[in-house]
Amino acid sequence: MNIILLGPPGAGKGTQARFLVEERGMVQLSTGDMLRAAKDSGTEMGQIVADVMARGALVTDEIVIGLIREQLETVQSNGFIFDGFPRTLAQADALSDLLTEKGQTLDAVIEMEVDDEALVARIVARSTCGGCGEVYNDNTKPIPADGKCTNCGKENEFKRRADDNEESLKTRLMEYYKKTSPLIGYYYAKGQLTKVNGLGEIVDVKAAIAGVLDT
Ligand code: AP5
Ligand code: MG
Repeated sequence: MNIILLGPPGAGKGTQARFLVEERGMVQLSTGDMLRAAKDSGTEMGQIVADVMARGALVTDEIVIGLIREQLETVQSNGFIFDGFPRTLAQADALSDLLTEKGQTLDAVIEMEVDDEALVARIVARSTCGGCGEVYNDNTKPIPADGKCTNCGKENEFKRRADDNEESLKTRLMEYYKKTSPLIGYYYAKGQLTKVNGLGEIVDVKAAIAGVLDT
């Protein structure tokens, strides 16, 4: 089963994708994580995308479609979670073509609805374990007092993202409403869209997503 988690910055896509990986053996394909890895690796592509990402703008369709194509060609899975991809109509069309080429289908698009005020509060309070990527939040899931990650148990550095500030977030939200939100209508028209209330507790959102996948 291949699914898209669709939602604005801070909607909880990464948080929920990790559950699906752990509990259902699905493979998370997060273009944001791939781009951050490219940035950290110091490659030419990494340098190109670093500035764009820090500002909160979208990286070109060509780059992100290339990243997804490479993953689909090399990774074997019977369930991909597309997290943060597609983000434009051109990316959505490309994904459809790539899946068709592989003889696969897109089974569900889950839109995670969260209002803007909550998004800002979540994003400015977020940090992640530098080792395993476990996501924390100063308000709802603080870093343990002993400094050891609850997932990997190690005392790694807890990182904050360069684009997790109010200024970049404004651009990220604007990009979402201008370029990504048209995908809601696109997938609705295809009969693939299900909305989930992303404002509830993490466990309630998880249950709502499970409800969509298990029906
Ligand atoms: P990307 O990494 O995809 O970031 P994003 O879409 O802005 O989303 P986030 O990762 O910020 O949020 P999330 O929904 O994963 O939330 P999370 O679970 O962490 O993209 C970054 C950049 O890369 C883009 O701006 C762009 O430049 C580039 N890029 C990436 N893909 C691209 C593409 N396809 N095309 C072009 N450019 C692309 O949760 C957030 C916080 O909230 C955490 O602290 C978490 O603990 C907390 N939280 C989660 N759920 C709940 C809940 N239910 N209640 C309370 N707190 C919660
Ligand atoms: Mg994320």
